[in-house]
Amino acid sequence: PQEKYVEDRSERGGGSEQQRWEEDHLNAALLKFGARDAKDRKKSKKYEVIMDEEIEFVQALKMPGTVKDKDKKEKLSEKEAKKMSIEETQKSLPIYPFKKDLIQAVRDHQILIIEGETGSGKTTQVPQYLHHAGFTNNGMKVGCTQPRRVAAMSVAARVAEEMGWKLGSEVGYSIRFEDCTSERTILKYMTDGMLLREFLSEPDLASYSVLIVDEAHERTLHTDVLFGLVKDIARFRPDLKLLISSATLDAQKFSEFFDDAPIFRIPGRRYPVDIYYTKAPEADYLDAAVVSVLQIHVTQPMGDILVFLTGQEEIETANEMLLERTRKLGSKIKELLVLPIYSTLPSDMQAKIFEPTPPGARKVVLATNIAETSLTIDGIVYVIDPGFCKQKSYNARTGMESLVVTPVSKASANQRAGRAGRVSAGKCFRLYTAWAYKNELEDNSVPEIQRTNLGNVVLLLKSLGINDLLNFDFMDPPPHETLVLALEQLYALGALNHLGELTKLGRRMAEFPVDPMMSKMILASEKYKCAKEVITIGAMLSVNNAIFYRPKDKIVHADTARQNFFVPGGDHLTLMNVYNQWEETDYSTQWCYENYIQHRSMKRARDVRDQLEGLLERVEIELTSNPTDTIAIRKAITAGYFYHTVRLSKGGQYKTVKSQQTVMVHPNSCLFEEHPRWIVYHELVFTTKEFMRQVMEIENLWLLEVAPHYYKSKDLEDGSGKKMPKKMGKAKDDLLRSY
Ligand code: CDP
Ligand code: MG
Repeated sequence: PQEKYVEDRSERGGGSEQQRWEEDHLNAALLKFGARDAKDRKKSKKYEVIMDEEIEFVQALKMPGTVKDKDKKEKLSEKEAKKMSIEETQKSLPIYPFKKDLIQAVRDHQILIIEGETGSGKTTQVPQYLHHAGFTNNGMKVGCTQPRRVAAMSVAARVAEEMGWKLGSEVGYSIRFEDCTSERTILKYMTDGMLLREFLSEPDLASYSVLIVDEAHERTLHTDVLFGLVKDIARFRPDLKLLISSATLDAQKFSEFFDDAPIFRIPGRRYPVDIYYTKAPEADYLDAAVVSVLQIHVTQPMGDILVFLTGQEEIETANEMLLERTRKLGSKIKELLVLPIYSTLPSDMQAKIFEPTPPGARKVVLATNIAETSLTIDGIVYVIDPGFCKQKSYNARTGMESLVVTPVSKASANQRAGRAGRVSAGKCFRLYTAWAYKNELEDNSVPEIQRTNLGNVVLLLKSLGINDLLNFDFMDPPPHETLVLALEQLYALGALNHLGELTKLGRRMAEFPVDPMMSKMILASEKYKCAKEVITIGAMLSVNNAIFYRPKDKIVHADTARQNFFVPGGDHLTLMNVYNQWEETDYSTQWCYENYIQHRSMKRARDVRDQLEGLLERVEIELTSNPTDTIAIRKAITAGYFYHTVRLSKGGQYKTVKSQQTVMVHPNSCLFEEHPRWIVYHELVFTTKEFMRQVMEIENLWLLEVAPHYYKSKDLEDGSGKKMPKKMGKAKDDLLRSY
């Protein structure tokens, strides 16, 4: 197959190194699902005139539905449903009959666990019920957290519509780098990370009467930390109500954690879903997903399709592939509307996925696992599940964190399938074998707190005055060594002193809603007098590798355009160059288009940059500029990211200074063919190897200047295999003793 499964396919470069890299990817994909050889893939008979390949599915089982007779209303056709007034729609939701009981339960108990099938109305309705019941009197707020920014934005918009309010007035949302609330806001949706940050400015959250920790089953890092914090404030604020809301998973566990809080169950309402598996493993799940969409479109009765992919790049590629193939088919097939949804999609585009499908057409939604439980899209009858998601993984021994495309858990796969049975009986097509489901998927996903760097959270907790992290009330505690490593890293950055106490620098760092390395980089720009440049780079790094656009039919042009931005020194300076050139055109859309730059991402970078500028003012750092002194700029970056230093070793490979792990420069980097001796990287992405994404050339002596308490000149001799500076060993003992 010429389409290979690669983790970030939209950005790959050319050449034979690249090819080998892709082959590796393919093999990894095969290994994951137990295939022997890609060529084994069956090319079955020509599929009418329309497709030249067909995926063979076998039906395995039926997920039982739970619809009761009294729920007939749900059986209305989609069109009729859309005609229902908002009020009628609200009344048709499974939660509606329980409105009174629910409010009573909230009055009776301080903490309540709410459990209900996705789409029951928990997220959109409960805050409205609380408002009607008077919990927002005297300007008190009802806060509702969401693990994902898209969900926070879209449910807030939905509630505004239902209440007839303007978004951002009585109902609003707050996500990182974007605050859409006002003085008048009483229903506030926000990401879990933003509520965490609110503890910094309002430690008892006195302005809230109710806090809803929604999507609790997602167990994101921030949600897990919130559990401990809200449980604690509930003890000294008896007037505060706490609702922990989740899909039909883990409710018992939440109840136990919250001192046996009662569980309020909203009876499910779900139609049966037929589950299909592929007969043989699919070598390229993205291609298989696209083929399956078309296959469903031409063979199956009406009903919209939901496809689960792992991230923005994949979604955009699938989007392009579908557009290209449907364009070729022209009027031979009915209209197919392709709608992507992922976290950085702007809100006007997000709204599109909720619009009703025009008569005669079919909608296909390409989503990340945000559509698993966070968002309910009405009208979905078919689900395509390739069985992967992108997850952070963390090695506390080496301190290396990377993004990895991982098989989903059985629990996730079943949530995904469930999305097909909300409006009528549905079908779920799993792009893996029944054997793989049974034998290769874990039962449940590992909570994020156990597979991520904790630097951010530790800095935040320290800022809240929580010093005893070992005894913090975690639902599932993070691994001990991860906590220790976070403390060590914060010490090395200068955010903590040798007693593990927050320093003045640490306090300033905590003001920035970014990870500690980035906030240190930003603060270091004061010394190197290049704050303007550094926040530009910080903003560009924050938009997640979505700057360069690489349409399939114009790869050569796009790559040439990208290479034209390359400047000596590395990717950070290249990103800055892109931003500066864009700024010079007065932020022109046309310019982006001509240079294969994603305008949306640039707009977002600009927003982030504005916010960072505001924060600089808050910590009283002058907006100095020194655009030509690229050494100063790179030193400031190194002051934040010195932990990510690697040294050239044999065969163009690199080794991390600290733990001698082998890593490679990502083929998209402007340093891919340069092989500088010392590199600082921004992040790692694991595919078949650890690839460093966004790298920058440095001189080893800078390390002694920016991190003298971490590096000794001995560490920086070429070929020295020394692991940890002596002083750090001593400091580590002190740190450990501090809690
Ligand atoms: O939180 P839960 O999964 O229980 O349900 P919800 O998100 O409150 O969804 C209830 C209803 O609101 C569903 O029928 C959704 O389709 C609808 N909704 C919507 O139309 N637009 C949104 N942005 C969010 C929800
Ligand atoms: Mg919800």
